[in-house]
Amino acid sequence: MNHHLLLIIHLVAATIWVGGHLYVCLCVLPGVLKSKDAGPLLRFEKSFEPLGMPALVLLVGTGIWMALQFGVYPSQWFSFASPLERVVSVKLLLLLLTVVLALSAQLRVIPTLKQSAARLNEMAVHVVLVTLIALAMLVLGSFIRYGGI
Ligand code: HEM
Repeated sequence: MNHHLLLIIHLVAATIWVGGHLYVCLCVLPGVLKSKDAGPLLRFEKSFEPLGMPALVLLVGTGIWMALQFGVYPSQWFSFASPLERVVSVKLLLLLLTVVLALSAQLRVIPTLKQSAARLNEMAVHVVLVTLIALAMLVLGSFIRYGGI
């Protein structure tokens, strides 16, 4: 597929992923922590999922496809040997961290949140970390047109 089209899809997906997480951090989380009521956070997570998950899948698909077009192949990943490959490898590690945090939130924190709000702070840490990682992925992506890191 044409690289420019892949980049446009990547950017729209990044807008959704980063924008959704900034919204939850800046607009939903403060009220939830103040009222100690996880309801609005859980409702936002549920309503964002059908848009956010396809966006993340598209980010990974278009990201890996564009990396291949730049000559960064899976055999080179995690060798940290060239500037472009370093960006791709760090992005993949951050993606892995995102998946681990999402699984930890879904399997460990959210089920207990529904019974008690005591683990609200732990949930907030998960949300803030995923948002910071999303921003880091965005900043890393912007380095590619300047030759990588
Ligand atoms: C949360 C996930 C991600 C976000 C928010 C994100 C965001 C971005 C942004 C904002 C750009 C800048 C494009 C430009 O300079 O105009 C970019 C470029 C890029 N991203 Fe991602 N990205 C994500 C995940 C990934 C993944 C998983 C990969 C693949 C391993 C990837 C590979 C790339 C590549 C190769 C480019 C360069 C495209 C170009 O300049 O032509 N991205 N990304």
